Amino acid sequence: MVKLKKHGITITVLYRPITPTVQNIMEAEKHGADAVIVTGSEAGGHISQCNVSLFTLLPQVTAAVRIPVIAAGGIIDGRGAKAAFAMGAQGIYMGTRFIATMENPASHAAKRAIVQVNSEDMLELEGVHERTISTPGGVIAYRFIKEGESQEAIPYHKNGYKEALLLGNLDQGTISVSPSAGGIHEILTCQEVIDDIVNQINH
Ligand SMILES: Cc1cc2nc3c(=O)[nH]c(=O)nc-3n(C[C@H](O)[C@H](O)[C@H](O)COP(=O)(O)O)c2cc1C
Repeated sequence: MVKLKKHGITITVLYRPITPTVQNIMEAEKHGADAVIVTGSEAGGHISQCNVSLFTLLPQVTAAVRIPVIAAGGIIDGRGAKAAFAMGAQGIYMGTRFIATMENPASHAAKRAIVQVNSEDMLELEGVHERTISTPGGVIAYRFIKEGESQEAIPYHKNGYKEALLLGNLDQGTISVSPSAGGIHEILTCQEVIDDIVNQINH
């Protein structure tokens, strides 16, 4: 990155490691990243190999680097955004909250499930980190559990996402979300999600 910039090539690099640490973020700054995204272990989807939450890691990272830090993982509203800003973040990055929006192509059944789920009703699959290494790009972090179901029976990865998240066959697949989905109570438009955040930040 530094080399490219030295040769006059215009490039803006946003670095987002799957497993962020203070060390790899400092390295990224040293090598010319313009901003970094720090994702806590409470994020949906493809999760960090370290079980370190956003609010544990974020203040350490913002104290260690000078480039802008963008916070991700478990932020679903303006209160989370405010907390991230209080810890030195200059931006936020959200996934789960936007699945339960009108515009999202996810099935209505999946959106309803997200609105209804409690944080304690989600399962973190054991061994998911090994699978993350062997199958990068689409691994379950959390899913809705059914009583008596064995973990081995859970279809995961791309087909699991397609079945449950996209097609709404909740029994045959996976809905990957942050445990903070327990705090999502309505399917909103993207505009409403953003307006709510801006209003809460300005209060
Ligand atoms: C359904 C789903 C699939 C995801 N898939 C990936 C992925 O393939 N690769 C990746 O790096 N991050 C993936 N993510 C993580 C997001 O990029 C983002 O870091 C995360 O959603 C932020 O946390 P939040 O969901 O709590 O807002 C996924 C997230 C979700 C919800």
